[in-house]
This record gives sequence, C-alpha cells and structure tokens, in this order.
Amino acid sequence: MTSLARWDRVEGVRVLVTGGAGYVGSHVVRALLKAGHTPLVLDDLSTGHISLVERNEGVPLLVGDVGDADFLDQVFGGHALDAVVHCAGKAVIAESVRNPELYFDTNTVKGFKLLEAMRRHAVHRLVFSSTCAVYGVPDELPITEDTPCQPVNPYGASKLAFEQMSHAYARAYGFKVLALRYFNVAGASSEGDLGELDFSGTRLIPNLLRAARTEGAFNLYGNNYPTRDGSAERDLIHVEDLAAAHAAAVTRLDIIDPLAFGCALNLGTGRGSTVREVLAAVQEITGGKIMVREVPRRVGDPPALVADGSLAERVLGVSCTRNLDDMIRSAAEFSERELARENSPLRKRELEARRPERKDDKKARFGEVVVAAGFLSPDTIEEALKIQAERDGIGESHQLLGLILLEMGAISSAQLIEALRRMNEPAQA
Ligand SMILES: NC(=O)c1ccc[n+]([C@@H]2O[C@H](COP(=O)([O-])OP(=O)(O)OC[C@H]3O[C@@H](n4cnc5c(N)ncnc54)[C@H](O)[C@@H]3O)[C@@H](O)[C@H]2O)c1
Repeated sequence: MTSLARWDRVEGVRVLVTGGAGYVGSHVVRALLKAGHTPLVLDDLSTGHISLVERNEGVPLLVGDVGDADFLDQVFGGHALDAVVHCAGKAVIAESVRNPELYFDTNTVKGFKLLEAMRRHAVHRLVFSSTCAVYGVPDELPITEDTPCQPVNPYGASKLAFEQMSHAYARAYGFKVLALRYFNVAGASSEGDLGELDFSGTRLIPNLLRAARTEGAFNLYGNNYPTRDGSAERDLIHVEDLAAAHAAAVTRLDIIDPLAFGCALNLGTGRGSTVREVLAAVQEITGGKIMVREVPRRVGDPPALVADGSLAERVLGVSCTRNLDDMIRSAAEFSERELARENSPLRKRELEARRPERKDDKKARFGEVVVAAGFLSPDTIEEALKIQAERDGIGESHQLLGLILLEMGAISSAQLIEALRRMNEPAQA
C-alpha cells in the first residue's frame, strides 16, 4: 500500500473515494474537501492519474485494486472510515460490448467485494457512481427514477447489477445507499487544474476540442435521429455540479431514508443539447473550424437522453448552476494548460496521435482479405479505419474493424463471417 500523504487532517465525514484519481473522482475529492470532509483515495491507476490526486493537496492515495479483499481489509482496518464514495469502474460502452467480462468483473464482482469489506468493517454509508445507461433506450422523456431500467449494453447492465446488490444490502444490513445516475458529465474544475485526461476518445467535448485544435475531423454518428436537427441529444452536466451533489449526499446520508425512494437519483440538468448544438458552441468559443464527417449511428446509441433531476434537487438540496458554455470553456482551459505541460498524459497522447500510424498486422491483413474477396474497395477500409481510430483508442482489433464495416452497411454479416474465416486460413505460398 503506497500513500502520497499522511491522513493527519480529520474533519467532517471520513470518506474513502474509490477511483479518486479519475476524472469524476478527483472532482468529488475536491468537493468533499470544500464541504469540510476528509477524503482518502483508493485507486489502481488503471485509467486514473497520480497528478489528479496530487492536485488535491494533502489527500492520501492508496494504490490498489478495489476487488482485493486483503487490501480492502488493510484500508478499512487502518483508517476509521465513516463512508465510501465508489467511483472506481470501467466506463466505455464500446469496450463493454467487446469485453463484457472486464465490465462485469470490475463494476459488479469487485463492487461486491467492496460491499463485503464494508459489511465486515461496519461502514454502512455508500454513495455510488451509476449511470443513465441503466435505462437503455427510454420510451419517454424526461427520464425519471421510475423509468424502467432496461440496459442495452454490458456497461449499463454491470452498473445496474451493482445497484441491485447494494439495494439488497440496504434492506438486509441497514446500509444507507445512494446510487447517483449520471447523465453526460463534462467540463473541468474552476481552478483549471482538474479535468479529463481523456484516453478513450469517446467523450464528446474533448473530442470536439481536439478536432477544433488540430483542424481534424469529427465523426458525427447518426444524422437522422428524431431530434430537432437529426443528431443525438444528450443532457450534459458540469462535473463541478455533479461533484457538489456527491458532497451533499455524504453530508445528508444520515438524515435521509434512501429506501423510501428506491436508493437512486438522476444527476442531470433537464436540458438536452444535440451533438450539432455542442459542436456549434465549441466552434464559437474556440474560434476553431471543425470538419464534420457524418457516419452511421453507433449500435445501441439512444436518440435522446434527458434527465428529470428534480428528485435529486429535493433530496440533496443542490441544483445545477453551470451551463454548456461553462462546460466548454472550463474544458478548453484545462486542455490548453495540460498541453503546455511537458509531462502531461494529454500532451503525450496528442503527440502520439500525430505520429504515423503503427501498422497493425492483423487489421491490415483483414483489410486485404475483404478487398481481395471483392467485398469492398480500399477507400471504404480507409473510412472505417478512421472511424475506428476515433471511436476507441483501446485495443484496436480486426474484429472491431469488421463490426464497423457492418455498421456502415459496407459488408453483410455473411461477408464478415467469410472474411474472418479466411483470416484464419494459412497464407498462400
Ligand atoms: N464520465 C461520465 O460521463 C460518466 C457518466 C456516468 C457514469 N460514470 C461513472 O463514474 C465513474 C468514474 O468515471 P470517470 O469518467 O471518472 O472515469 P475514469 O476512468 O477517469 O475514472 C475511473 C477511476 O477508477 C479507477 N479504477 C478502475 N478500476 C479500478 C479497480 N479495479 N480498483 C481501483 N481503482 C480502479 C481508475 O484508475 C480511475 O481512476 C465510473 O464508475 C463511471 O462508470 C461516468
């Protein structure tokens, strides 16, 4: 167990923040400090960053896995904790479709280990990072907490399963549990030092800012949704408003009865913005010109997700005070600061992206196979490769390339199966 700082300042509620080295978690830590509480971070740094912990001065970091029972016994045994805010998790939908095992293991199984450690050490207050992905594709808007939960991807399902487990612990063991279902989180801290060091390439505002900076292309997935301009509509919430809701939840957990309202609250603004509206706002604020590439919808992307956040306002006594402009301006300021820093992961990633693409043998061979079979032209492969590069930086694979071609309508399922079969044949002499 390594620690950046000693836990010598104990005021308010002593809170373990899992995933506190991540984007949301680091803002939650800051909000807890501002509310007079005492946070302690547990993170395995798989997608988190030490720098985001260091910028919350004096807050210790315990590096380890939230699913490691022995480690959790050391953490709970060594610190007199009052509550847990559980932000640690995996959160990239496309990755969850390709690798559900990782998502159910991290978000559900390891979550269960945490619940059990809390039970062993009699820490019964829990605030949890859930998501609007638990609702799937809702029939009606705005989405209330009573909207049926019907997740359409393993990410949403893995989060819903943890919600249900913690709910059962609330009923059986007297846990006080609040699942906060975030809509689309965006923006950066008003101090300009915390923000998204985005590596997945899936986040809307960081993607648009990068496209504006580099005059690169932005993929607009779907142009024929039943929305006011045909692009998907999302409810974006500023990360500082979201983090303040966590601090309020920690403060109020003892005086509310979450079981009375189902232990879940939506965190959204109730205002939807379409992708085209966000794009226009980014161009106006940055003065950058973004080249838009209209590509087919992504599988499972709902047309519109807008929250009814009124229950959270009533229960937590907080409201969203920041708007879309605030989100874009703070995110732009944060990324500019990071890009100017020699050792910033964001800067490294951006430089990496400008280097000529490393040749992925399997992907290249898959492209050759489908072209040689006469299924499509090399231009279509190029187009699909660009979508793949921007969709998800994690684990580029020929299977994903095949799925993208399928989504584009460039090949049929039968052709995809045939191409994958030919891939496995030994090369002709
Ligand atoms: N960002 C959003 O728009 C959004 C929306 C809905 C829900 N959420 C949820 O909020 C939480 C935080 O998301 P984020 O956007 O900050 O992502 P993030 O990747 O920046 O943060 C996740 C953190 O969890 C840590 N972590 C992952 N697996 C771990 C493990 N096994 N043990 C210990 N630490 C581990 C990572 O290192 C990272 O610091 C996630 O649970 C996510 O599902 C985020």
